[in-house]
Amino acid sequence: MVAMKAAVFHAANEPLTIEQLEIAEPEGFEVRVRTVASGVCHSDLHFVDGFYQMKTPAVLGHEAAGVVEAVGPLVTEFQPGDHVIACLSTFCGKCERCLEGQTHLCTNKPQRSPDQPPALTWNGDPVGQGFRVASYAEQMLIHENGLVKIGDDIPMASAALIGCGVTTGVGAVLKTAKVEAGSTVAVFGCGGVGLAAIQGARIAGARKIIAVDMVEHKLGTARELGATHSVDASTGDAVAKIREITGGGVDYAFEAIGLKVAAEQAFEAIRPGGTATIIGMIPVGQKVELPGAAFLGEKKIQGSNMGSNHFKVDMPRYIEFYQRGLLQLDQMITARARLEDVNDRLRAMKEGEVARSVLMFD
Ligand SMILES: NC(=O)c1ccc[n+]([C@@H]2O[C@H](COP(=O)([O-])OP(=O)(O)OC[C@H]3O[C@@H](n4cnc5c(N)ncnc54)[C@H](O)[C@@H]3O)[C@@H](O)[C@H]2O)c1
Ligand SMILES: [Zn+2]
Ligand SMILES: [Zn+2]
Repeated sequence: MVAMKAAVFHAANEPLTIEQLEIAEPEGFEVRVRTVASGVCHSDLHFVDGFYQMKTPAVLGHEAAGVVEAVGPLVTEFQPGDHVIACLSTFCGKCERCLEGQTHLCTNKPQRSPDQPPALTWNGDPVGQGFRVASYAEQMLIHENGLVKIGDDIPMASAALIGCGVTTGVGAVLKTAKVEAGSTVAVFGCGGVGLAAIQGARIAGARKIIAVDMVEHKLGTARELGATHSVDASTGDAVAKIREITGGGVDYAFEAIGLKVAAEQAFEAIRPGGTATIIGMIPVGQKVELPGAAFLGEKKIQGSNMGSNHFKVDMPRYIEFYQRGLLQLDQMITARARLEDVNDRLRAMKEGEVARSVLMFD
């Protein structure tokens, strides 16, 4: 057992508190990783805001890069000193979804069994490992199928973003929707995920990329990262503007906010035969309402989970995009902070101040 500092989530709408926790030594296929950088993704905030529930106390954070410190006896893929990115899409490799190649939808994600000691404890009591990653902490205990090795020369803050937001946004475009060159695309929400989707659309060769947000500086960043048009949803009807720009609707729309109305707008904004892809986490219990007659126009709507990733092959490819300058990750990091600043960084995200905050541990 190793002592470490972590931010503990107690209950919705309460601040996380920094505590001294204990993390177990790796067993079996587990790896203990020293966290170097952890992005602050809106999915954590949805739990803090009470729109999604998890058992507490728990440690949140799931967009992380770090250095391997210790490996379990069955691990052959990693060794101490390796630089890694964590991914919440841990997979078993044996369930029907995994065997059909949809490892991101694994139905039997590996985790400690009740007869093993808990991964995290606080004064001897178990603490939940949010998203099986729990990166708002100095150390992480992750199954080897939740990690991928990266080069020692990749900046850790940028690598961390690939751990969730980038894989989610780029993957939604390239893997879930499979946007073709020459397409028209609209992206609702220009936070970490939306900005990654915009870059995915640029990489795919989209002809028009329309960024939609309520905050002007977010639209500015979106244009720098590849949007050809921007629409300020705070000043009028975003769907009407998208229809005007495209002469009748986009081929592909992406919702990257987590808002029922934005999901409905994304569906409205596509042309007949177009596809709307919902990435955002719409609060549990809320329904998305669609005009039934629109299905006669062969309009399609689908979800996207973590960019439909096969992260062990996708993440190294996204790093190559980064090295070639196709994926601009450094530009997405608008603030670096410490673990102790986590509540303030969640606030900054809620208030639309930042593209992405990254907590740095070194
Ligand atoms: N499906 C998945 O696997 C997956 C993975 C990661 C994140 N997510 C979800 O994706 C969503 C986006 O995450 P993020 O980290 O980029 O969040 P973020 O807070 O960084 O970005 C959201 C953006 O939406 C904008 N926005 C808010 N209301 C708007 C409105 N009415 N119209 C237009 N723009 C509006 C905000 O200004 C902000 O720029 C969240 O719901 C998150 O939980 C889903
Ligand atoms: Zn995330
Ligand atoms: Zn599986």
